[in-house]
Amino acid sequence: MSDKVKTLLLFGATGDLSHRMLLPSLYGLHADGLLPDDLNILGTARSDLDEAAFRASAVEALAEHVPADFYQAETGQKFVERLSYVALDASQGDHFDRLAAKIDADAGLAIFLSTAPTLFEPIITGLSRVGLTGDTVRLALEKPLGSDLASSREINDAVAAAFPEARTFRIDHYLGKETVQNLLALRFANSTFEPLWNASHIDHVQISVAETVGLEGRAGYYDGAGALRDMVQNHMLQLLALVAMEPPADFDGTAVRDEKVKVLRSLRPIKASDVAAQVVTGQYGNGAVGGEPVKSYADELGKSSTTETFVALKAHVDNWRWAGVPFYLRTGKRLPERKTEIFIQFKCVPHSMFAKRGAKTKANKLIISIQPEENIRLLVMAKTPGLDRDGIRLREVPLDVGLANAFADHRRRIAYERLLLDLIEGDPTLFVRRDEVEAQWQWIDGVRAAWEEAGLSPSNYGAGSWGPSAAIALTERDGVHWHD
Ligand code: BG6
Repeated sequence: MSDKVKTLLLFGATGDLSHRMLLPSLYGLHADGLLPDDLNILGTARSDLDEAAFRASAVEALAEHVPADFYQAETGQKFVERLSYVALDASQGDHFDRLAAKIDADAGLAIFLSTAPTLFEPIITGLSRVGLTGDTVRLALEKPLGSDLASSREINDAVAAAFPEARTFRIDHYLGKETVQNLLALRFANSTFEPLWNASHIDHVQISVAETVGLEGRAGYYDGAGALRDMVQNHMLQLLALVAMEPPADFDGTAVRDEKVKVLRSLRPIKASDVAAQVVTGQYGNGAVGGEPVKSYADELGKSSTTETFVALKAHVDNWRWAGVPFYLRTGKRLPERKTEIFIQFKCVPHSMFAKRGAKTKANKLIISIQPEENIRLLVMAKTPGLDRDGIRLREVPLDVGLANAFADHRRRIAYERLLLDLIEGDPTLFVRRDEVEAQWQWIDGVRAAWEEAGLSPSNYGAGSWGPSAAIALTERDGVHWHD
């Protein structure tokens, strides 16, 4: 399917995601002339707004969330002329008739659900009843898609009853990030790295997603979820799959996702007896981030909780390419800085001809910084200048590609710009297929079951630190340091 649609229907159109990400992304696409000229954007939510009020709230959201140097009030006004609004309560079947009256689904319809997952089923039922699920309609879904394999299957079954997989677009916004896609370019558009991208040459991989934010008013969702389900199950396992997958034959939805799912299915289950050595969880206490005092998780929440706001894991991909290579994953809230990074530690040279002259050789490292900086840095050994009378000195020096500089003439886009445009145009490559989501949940359910059996509970860490000290011990036992 690669037909453009005539209508984009946003459920949850007055919500936070819509204001912070979706409307600003659509504005960006509009401003760059990338949206089809005749695309209508129809918002829907429970709020009883008329069209003028919805447009006014959209203008406010744009003024607040689009970078000031890109936002132009006149373009904003033109953009909101595409917007219309229908108030809808998904539990009221007859409200869907109002939607149907506004949409010509035969001309192509893309639906984006950014609502609580409990509403997915009634929405899909309502859409089916009024004929908005036919062959010309595709559906995008935001996370969380369930809280374990069983509940994710329930959601997927409800979706599949109306939308076949080819018309279902599951969002993982990390896949819309430019540097994440650049990982694919780095691996598969260069001949330098791929021959070394395996257990013979790579010692270990680290994937870190550090955040400075805390609960951000999402207690209702987050406290039931925790870091493992909120970040590892989706974003981090997708990053791991992109790092570890075999070269796909084409950059298309089938080839790329076929390779990712093989990796996800090769993740070695973590058993209760592995938990002590392979899993650390934490919950932030009082502390300071960026010089500002911050409250503990329990204080923010207003009660005590056993939810983890930090998790560190040692994972293995049990296949030929990655035999014996640990993948260390770490994510947490209220860490000292916001940083998402993939760190590849290569092995040392097998023999150093400089050793007898006193030189120490360090192994090469490749650091792919995803945010906030978008950088690819390879650390290589170089000789320190001099006549070497006291021996040879080698030093690590970076070969740096600052993507912001290399592509200074390109605007930095929100991840959702890419995903919304792909949805409108019907390209599923950067969306997550059902088998991937289920393989992710299967592994995560195993980890949770193991830590419950092992009686693991989150250790306290000070807000503004890099997590519990046990997370440091997790890698140090293997002689590995986290790349902070
Ligand atoms: C979301 C999580 O999926 O990703 C949030 O629910 C998290 O808890 C967010 O803060 C991080 O996204 P980004 O793009 O800021 O790294």
